[in-house]
Amino acid sequence: KKGNYEHFMQKEIHEQPESLTTTMRGRLICGDSSKAKSVLLGGLKDHLKTIRRSRRIVFIGCGTSYNAALAARPFLEELSGVPVTMELASDLLDRQGPIYREDTAVFVSQSGETADTLLALQYALENGALCVGITNTVGSAIARNTHCGVHINAGCEIGVASTKAYTSQIAVMAMMALAIGDDTISSQARREAVIDGLFGLPNKVKEVLKLDDEMKDLAKLLMDEQSLLMFGRGYNYATALEGALKVKEVALMHSEGILAGEMKHGPLALVDETLPIIVIATHDACFSKQQSVIQQLHARKGRLIVMCSKGEGPLVCSNGSCRVIEVPQVADCLQPVVNIVPLQLLSYHLTVLRGYNVDQPRNLAKSVTTQ
Ligand code: UD1
Ligand code: M6R
Repeated sequence: KKGNYEHFMQKEIHEQPESLTTTMRGRLICGDSSKAKSVLLGGLKDHLKTIRRSRRIVFIGCGTSYNAALAARPFLEELSGVPVTMELASDLLDRQGPIYREDTAVFVSQSGETADTLLALQYALENGALCVGITNTVGSAIARNTHCGVHINAGCEIGVASTKAYTSQIAVMAMMALAIGDDTISSQARREAVIDGLFGLPNKVKEVLKLDDEMKDLAKLLMDEQSLLMFGRGYNYATALEGALKVKEVALMHSEGILAGEMKHGPLALVDETLPIIVIATHDACFSKQQSVIQQLHARKGRLIVMCSKGEGPLVCSNGSCRVIEVPQVADCLQPVVNIVPLQLLSYHLTVLRGYNVDQPRNLAKSVTTQ
């Protein structure tokens, strides 16, 4: 079942152009001269009015599923006009945090069976919120117990490290934002541009997968390191968290995703000429802020690997002293889908080179059904 691949994780990373295509199939409406481009999510269409009228949208999940929601959050805030908050399921339960009748609670889970997420769902149901599921598993507990939802249709994911589910979850949440914002004329041009971006996304992912050999070389360079930091912000704060989660989970290397805006509030003290740091600096509204972060890390002789938009290597690394990963540019809110791919490839190759079990990392289970 692995076909030409050595591991399921590798297969699932390379499958992403196809899994994204299946996720979007039948859900993007082309439009014509008389009708605007739009999105149709069969499982949400009868609930959009309630979602738009809710007091807040709160995303709840664990691990990679939480990171996917974090990646989609800025676009959801932009298009829904409703405050969007985030909860790690276990933390919401620990605090018995506030969930109200006027809330829309969105449960994100690849398996649909994660214990903490399920318990948080019970809690939100008891509190009277509208409960929406985003899951990859038809018939799963979360799919069955939510009021409505969307199946991400990424196909079965076997590797414990979630890869293709992450990119499909982001695509679904971007479509969800488009559907919620569908009644707003002022954002129509923006929505149509993002729908065009979604149509083109599988090909961009195909393009970024060509970095496989480059990521293998980078893994050779980093394989004996103790630690690897990843700095991101804005749309790509989630990319830093998710990249670091992949590296620690499968390559068993300490890695931390850091919000670049927090750099001066502590993490900067770690920077020296030995610690490798990946900085995500693809072109969006935060680009100039990321350029200044790069300069400050340079000034402390940081060992930098910068991910940037194609052709912008010289802009992010003028003196040639850092390594550059150039990726294709897409609509800002979809860029996390492209940017995670090189980091998935890097963590895969690090794991193989370090001799660890790729598909079943020690101590971990694919589906965490106990608290
Ligand atoms: C559905 C069909 C799909 C068919 C399409 C044709 C299923 C599972 N899907 O897809 O095979 O091609 O119509 O129009 O039969 N739901 C939840 N919670 C969740 C996820 C989903 O309650 O976590 C509910 C949805 O609200 C919906 C149903 O499950 O009522 C199916 O969801 P989804 O597969 O996303 O709907 P469609 O894309 O319309
Ligand atoms: O099935 P779920 O999406 O609910 O799983 C949540 C986490 O357990 C999961 O994403 C975990 O973090 C992955 N192993 C990460 O690759």
